[in-house]
Amino acid sequence: MEYILYEQKGQYAILTINREKALNALNSQVLDELNETLDNVDLKEVRALIITGAGSKSFVAGADIGEMSTLTKAEGEAFGKKGNDVFRKIETFPIPVIAAVNGFALGGGCELSMSCDIRICSDNAVFGQPEVGLGITPGFGGTQRLARLIGAGMAKQMIYTARNIKAPEAYRIGLVNEVYAAETDAEGNVVKSAGEVLMAAAEKMASTIAKNAPIAVRNCKKAIGEGLDADMDEALVIEEKLFGDCFETEDQKYGMAFFLDKNKEKVKEPFRNC
Ligand code: CAA
Repeated sequence: MEYILYEQKGQYAILTINREKALNALNSQVLDELNETLDNVDLKEVRALIITGAGSKSFVAGADIGEMSTLTKAEGEAFGKKGNDVFRKIETFPIPVIAAVNGFALGGGCELSMSCDIRICSDNAVFGQPEVGLGITPGFGGTQRLARLIGAGMAKQMIYTARNIKAPEAYRIGLVNEVYAAETDAEGNVVKSAGEVLMAAAEKMASTIAKNAPIAVRNCKKAIGEGLDADMDEALVIEEKLFGDCFETEDQKYGMAFFLDKNKEKVKEPFRNC
């Protein structure tokens, strides 16, 4: 792999888009490698995935403009499909995916973050869909996911004006869940950079998720994802099935027995994914 780093840390893993010289822009090779890396995640072990970008400046600065500049209509459509297929794989990935947005998340970068379940960012993050300034529409799901995430009115404003927004505004409109700043000592010296604080928070969140019952967590992701695409009556049936599916699992039996056992001395065992 030239452009993707993948590190498994026990029950969670970190996937890094590693094309720092081009601010981690997504060309076809990056997308292919991202796809292949996702296919190779050991889902028997890994219970949460973090996606981030290499370096301290950029998460992903978009799809590769050089590569796109000479595409025909048919090639443009195929490139859009390639990105959409990979991002849909992330969106429907069986385990939760956290985007740790450590800088620019523009165009395809903002779209990548939106295909993840949860977005958190460093205070130097910048989000935006600048495509109309380049003569194209957002092409990796931006027109669809941004409207679903922050509402059609705000999404239309961002997309039509191509205006980039900084982390505090992204937080205010609900595009990110949390913004992390550098840690400083009493003299104001940086002890931990914003990127380091962000990654520590992402890893803490991933390990917290990984400690919960894995079948239940996966079923929550499925219920929320599939339910959002259905009307309420269908959505509640989806939930009922996934709720029912948790029963008779060892994790359900153990989790409930642990609660019902009034012995306060006992220590909770890890969930076993069965
Ligand atoms: N594609 C290709 N290369 C890119 C890139 C991109 N999206 N973004 C940055 N780069 C490259 C630059 O060309 C530059 O390369 P060289 O050193 O070889 O010249 C390198 O990364 C560093 O970039 P800058 O010198 O521009 O860095 P900066 O700090 O001055 O500016 C920036 C940073 C504001 C993010 C600026 O790079 C920028 O505006 N990038 C493009 C952002 C953008 O428009 N993204 C949307 C792309 S379209 C899209 O994504 C479509 C879709 O929906 C699928």
